[in-house]
Amino acid sequence: MAITKKWWHDKVAYQIYPKSFRDTDGDGVGDLRGITQKLDYLKDLGIDILWICPVYPSPFVDQGYDISDYYDIDPAFGTMADLEELLAEAKKRDMYILMDLVINHCSDQHPWFRKALQDPFGKYGDYFYFRRGENGLPPSNTRSYFGGSTWEKVPGYEDLYYFHAYAAAQPDLNWENPEVLDELYTMVNWWLEKGVAGFRIDAIINIQKDISFPSYPPDGEDGMATVVRMVESVEGVNEKLQALKKNTFDRYDALTVGEVFNMRKDALDAFVGENGHFSTMFDFSVNCLSDGPGGWYRNREITFRDFRETLFHSQLECQGIGFLANFLENHDEPRGSSRYLPPCVRNEQGMKMLATVSILLRGIPFLFQGQEIGMTNCPMVSVEEYNDINTKAEYALCRQAGLSDREALNVCQRFSRDNGRTPMQWDASPNAGFTTGTPWLKVNPNYVDINVAEQEGREDSILNYYRRLIALRKSPEYREVFTYGEFVPLFREAENILAYRRVLEGRETVVIANFGPEEAVLPADTFRDHRLLLTNAPAETASGAITLKSAQVIVLGR
Ligand code: GLC
Repeated sequence: MAITKKWWHDKVAYQIYPKSFRDTDGDGVGDLRGITQKLDYLKDLGIDILWICPVYPSPFVDQGYDISDYYDIDPAFGTMADLEELLAEAKKRDMYILMDLVINHCSDQHPWFRKALQDPFGKYGDYFYFRRGENGLPPSNTRSYFGGSTWEKVPGYEDLYYFHAYAAAQPDLNWENPEVLDELYTMVNWWLEKGVAGFRIDAIINIQKDISFPSYPPDGEDGMATVVRMVESVEGVNEKLQALKKNTFDRYDALTVGEVFNMRKDALDAFVGENGHFSTMFDFSVNCLSDGPGGWYRNREITFRDFRETLFHSQLECQGIGFLANFLENHDEPRGSSRYLPPCVRNEQGMKMLATVSILLRGIPFLFQGQEIGMTNCPMVSVEEYNDINTKAEYALCRQAGLSDREALNVCQRFSRDNGRTPMQWDASPNAGFTTGTPWLKVNPNYVDINVAEQEGREDSILNYYRRLIALRKSPEYREVFTYGEFVPLFREAENILAYRRVLEGRETVVIANFGPEEAVLPADTFRDHRLLLTNAPAETASGAITLKSAQVIVLGR
């Protein structure tokens, strides 16, 4: 099936976590002006699209994913005028801004919810899910994503609760109520009118509830069952998402990127096909590989083989249907190099290899701030150094399960969301040049060595490699093949090799990476007509064979 070409298909995107990107007013928190200030840096890297994590007014219980006003900017980040300036400056540079759309829930400080609490049986009560419990027990036994019940007691009432899939401070909005939908559509269109190019859409699969709120067989010692059980068992999300699209995104040719977990196996076409709910959605398949049976402390190591085969599976599954958004890191995940690179290649060269393999896949590449300089997980010395609500909950879970403080900290060091949230490392001056004040979250002590300024000046740095890599993807000769070319796995039988071709109408590119500790020799007769487009180490090509050192990647083209 031919895929209709769209303006965003050949673009490269970058995620900004504004709190930690660049602080221009010395309050220790990054701001919108900081983003505007760095637009040239991003343009120079080859970035077209910026996804900006929530900057709306918020009590920051979940770092802005708890919105108390959908129409304004939190003073910590600046003003609406700053946002308008960012939009205008981005436009001058042919860059596009995506806002974060958080509409499964809002903040408990949002006026809708405050009014709902005053009168749970009135108009605003119906903006949320209020239900009666029985005999002192909540209405059902579902466990929220951040631990504990999905039900919070309403103060001043016997046995009355409201539903929250995430924190208690994030009450879920009632998507069965047409008035709520009207409010949300109006708000989305208001932002699109303002000139944002689209949205990254948060936690969206959760909007469909089973409104009888059943209990499920417990899956933990707390007697609860993860709320995922409900998400997976309900019908109707497709209709809701189509209506959202029709009433908003479609009218503006907006780019929408869904954060979708737990989608039905056969629903890819419904989500990202020709008439799909979204333009694209993140490919979480390799991230989910580390998921254990519950609790980070039961998470698994990701083996190279699983990483490769899972990546190949999603690539093959989606081509012919639509585009996925590929990424290695985001604000909810540990740093990619600490996670996907086997220890033997966990170095600068390995990071360049991982970058190459990811950026040249079929789909829309998303980088996360700091990835382009190889920022790593941050060692915290005590649980107090963490800010993230989820990390604190997981730490508590570890302790309940009998892990010592040290062991629990080790778990958090591997999986904490704060690993990706530490301030951007701009230079070797105090606080990594992120702020002149006191940073809201610890700066990774390795900023003295790992920072933008150092890498700007070094030809073989990760940063300069990313620039060449993105430039190659967007080069006039290869742009089409990297965008639309078919994905074909290569050398699948080779133990430590990750390799693929991208093929389109006589043009072909080949990526071959050696994730193993030893040198690898591969037959090269089929690549006789190809030339070397990019490598992270001096390449040796003898006739008939390609020799790749450990952590070496080559990109060939024809
Ligand atoms: C998404 C966000 C995450 C947030 C959650 C609740 O998964 O990426 O940071 O905690 O939704 O809004």
